[in-house]
Amino acid sequence: MVKQKERRPGQKAAGGPGAKPRPEARRDTPVKTGGKMSASRDRGERITEPRTAASTVAAPERPLIVRNGERPPERVPVILESLGAGDFHLIDSGNALKLEQYGPYRIVRPEAQALWQPSLASHVWDNADAVFTGDTDEDGMGRWRFPREALGETWPLQLLGVDFLGRFTAFRHVGVFPEQIVHWAWMKEQAEAAKRPLKVLNLFGYTGVASLVAAAAGAEVTHVDASKKAIGWARENQALGRMEKLPIRWICEDAMKFILREERRGNKYDIILTDPPKFGRGPNGEVWHLFEHLPLMLDICREILSPKALGLVLTAYSIRASFYSIHELMRETMRGAGGVVESGELVIREAGLDGSTPGRALSTSLFSRWVPK
Ligand SMILES: C[S@@+](CC[C@H](N)C(=O)[O-])C[C@H]1O[C@@H](n2cnc3c(N)ncnc32)[C@H](O)[C@@H]1O
Repeated sequence: MVKQKERRPGQKAAGGPGAKPRPEARRDTPVKTGGKMSASRDRGERITEPRTAASTVAAPERPLIVRNGERPPERVPVILESLGAGDFHLIDSGNALKLEQYGPYRIVRPEAQALWQPSLASHVWDNADAVFTGDTDEDGMGRWRFPREALGETWPLQLLGVDFLGRFTAFRHVGVFPEQIVHWAWMKEQAEAAKRPLKVLNLFGYTGVASLVAAAAGAEVTHVDASKKAIGWARENQALGRMEKLPIRWICEDAMKFILREERRGNKYDIILTDPPKFGRGPNGEVWHLFEHLPLMLDICREILSPKALGLVLTAYSIRASFYSIHELMRETMRGAGGVVESGELVIREAGLDGSTPGRALSTSLFSRWVPK
């Protein structure tokens, strides 16, 4: 990997003509935020947007590095598709809903992308075990209806050989985002093929399924999430699979704060997964705003990639953007690093009642990843 000369704005320019400084992220300038939270494809645990248009977001703590090397070659569009795996498959979708199989349960949840009509008869849908109603005056399990019999809050599931709990959460999620399995399977392969324990950083790690997959494949994992509750669920998952002895550091902290500290300390990672929500808050009220903070987050991630890094993987949900937005940001960030940047969408294909009859593709999110080859 060829390391190009880089400088931060304010340092003496080393580049030739046209080596223009990028806009500086100013330390002391409060950034105004506005706009409403878009409901479609939003994820995370009851994350609220700053209440007033004038509320300040946590100021980035260092300027972006000016990068003068070549942009890595690109592979676009890349559609990473999954027909389900382990205990999960998408049975059917339509009418702004999806019908999914999670282990023993069939679950109906809202799905704004499903503009078409369902393929399967309505009695199949009516027979579901759980339906997310989203009743706003309810909380937790109250936002779910169980047409057949009352169900407990959690139930055991398995993906890529890892045990974890499915969970009926107040925010319509079920404790896992199974479209991510394509990234996790890729990461598992890397970790198993490496002749050393890879260092994996999982930012915005939620219930820890990715962290468990990586650790089970031999990696040393650092898992960061701002929510104490999510970290608790992740530890429960670790205990369920009797994986307590695996090397996972569970860190409840603001993701940006954590990586800034890792950069200062010179700590490095071989694979970084980052799955930021559109809006989020750190444990001390630090505000995460994807459109404000993603450039700096990727910039720092690049600095904490090890010299033999195997990947930087970004996924983005619920944003009004094309995959090109994160693709070009990734290529700018990885200037001079060689490798390749591939970007596109993560989609899940309907697999029918039997789990193996391919139907329509349901788009779930955008992704961009840098890999060394
Ligand atoms: C959408 S989930 C990530 C899902 C996970 N990567 C997966 O695929 O299973 C978003 C997570 O980000 C966390 N989060 C939100 N704001 C954060 C912040 N500022 N720092 C760290 N984590 C944050 C939430 O607690 C939540 O668990």
